[in-house]
Amino acid sequence: MANHKRPPASLIFIFGGSGDLNFRKLSPALYNLFIDEWMPEKFSIVGIGRSQYNDDDYRKRLLNGLQQFSRRKGESNGHWEEFSKHISYLPMDAEKDGDYNKIAEMIKAKEAEMGEHPNIIFYLSVAPQLMPDIAKKLGALKICSETATTRLVFEKPFGHDLKSAHELNQLLMSMFKEEQIYRIDHYLGKESVQNILSLRFANALFEPIWNRRYIESVQITAAETVGVEGRGGYYENSGALRDMVQNHILQLMCMIAMEAPVSFDANEIRNKKVDVLNAIRKISKEDVAQFAVRGQYAEGWMKGEKVPGYKQEKSVNPTSHIETFAAVKFYIDNWRWQDVPFYVRTGKRMNQKTTNITIQFKNAPSYAFPPEAAETWRSNRLTISIQPEMEVRLRFQAKRLGQSMILNPVDMIFNPSDDSHEPEDEPEAYETLLLDVMEGNPTLFMRADQVEAAWKIVMPILETWESRPPVDFPNYTPDSWGPEDAEALIAKDGHNWITMPPAQ
Ligand code: BG6
Repeated sequence: MANHKRPPASLIFIFGGSGDLNFRKLSPALYNLFIDEWMPEKFSIVGIGRSQYNDDDYRKRLLNGLQQFSRRKGESNGHWEEFSKHISYLPMDAEKDGDYNKIAEMIKAKEAEMGEHPNIIFYLSVAPQLMPDIAKKLGALKICSETATTRLVFEKPFGHDLKSAHELNQLLMSMFKEEQIYRIDHYLGKESVQNILSLRFANALFEPIWNRRYIESVQITAAETVGVEGRGGYYENSGALRDMVQNHILQLMCMIAMEAPVSFDANEIRNKKVDVLNAIRKISKEDVAQFAVRGQYAEGWMKGEKVPGYKQEKSVNPTSHIETFAAVKFYIDNWRWQDVPFYVRTGKRMNQKTTNITIQFKNAPSYAFPPEAAETWRSNRLTISIQPEMEVRLRFQAKRLGQSMILNPVDMIFNPSDDSHEPEDEPEAYETLLLDVMEGNPTLFMRADQVEAAWKIVMPILETWESRPPVDFPNYTPDSWGPEDAEALIAKDGHNWITMPPAQ
């Protein structure tokens, strides 16, 4: 018996049931929740897709996904056999009105089987252009008027730009209540990202110095070693700014920059975050070149292996102008952060897979120390690694052993997980988020105003880049830290990008 309260009975429909995200992330997440006894006592998962599968073949395909991608691999301990009994497949064309009767019938049948009215969850893991149409067709189902128990989950990207995100929000608002809508940003489900709030607000140490008086600058790096991995078709309509900055990176910025919430109520936390987004200075189109840098990877070598350039990737236009790297300098115009630059960068085919945030503190006065001490003077720095592992590093100045007063920077490192922790014990982001949907807790999901505020920030950069094709693409080699211009962006302010030692 689980010693925690499980969510209420749930019936989960996954649009895109035969797609990659379900295969790699959603089904493994539900399976791990099942093993940890977080799934409801009564639940049913229905994959929806156009491909023709019978239930057995569909389950086999999901098991194959688990074996490759789950933190637990579907070992032969009976868990999978038990779990898979709750899975079925519904072949249908999501673009055809008539096919939605199949969903209504399925709901009736499952309700009868469960003997109660479950939560009905529609997870839309489909191409963004299909979302409005599916939402409209679902809105017409009677079940969606049951606002307390029917929920819709939208995978990112939510909209392609401010206009389309706004239109989609308007459409949803005309049919559903905001509390029925769960817009995913999977970074918010990461354990290490949630830990930022504990670090900041459960320790008396940091909050008093967490402001412009003591902090010189903040950096966020989200680097990946992979290329576009067969997602060329999607990426050609996206690029690094849309794919990573508009959502994940701006959300990390909100966690670092938000004011302390007065409670952990979903709307309170989201209000504090949206305040940050609204205070981010809008970059005027004339200034884009001073504040933002884009890049695209060339062909080259990655850890001894020859890799294609972006333009040679599958489903990519050989003359593509899409950026696979973006770096931006932001300012937050409020009392806490006025004039503190926030440097952010993200890219594919970079030297390391790492996401980290660095808080660079101002220099302490060095006048009391002998001149030789000043030679190794380094200001304090707090680095929060989000992945590959959660780790927090605080850099101090300390006296070197010996007779002279020579200083050395030393790092105090802590890893918040305890010693008995194994990587496979850590819940994945999608586990946390799916559990929250079943429990009806929207704290870690994007509200309509948050998504639009985030689009407003990136729109001037997107529009400027679209109207001025790059002249130097490809401009960085694989296994590097991106184009030289990204170094210049920050060097002109007297700073440099901080690179963490690779994980051991
Ligand atoms: C997704 C992007 O949202 O995040 C991908 O679409 C990217 O392009 C991925 O690879 C990175 O996620 P993570 O959790 O591996 O950092």
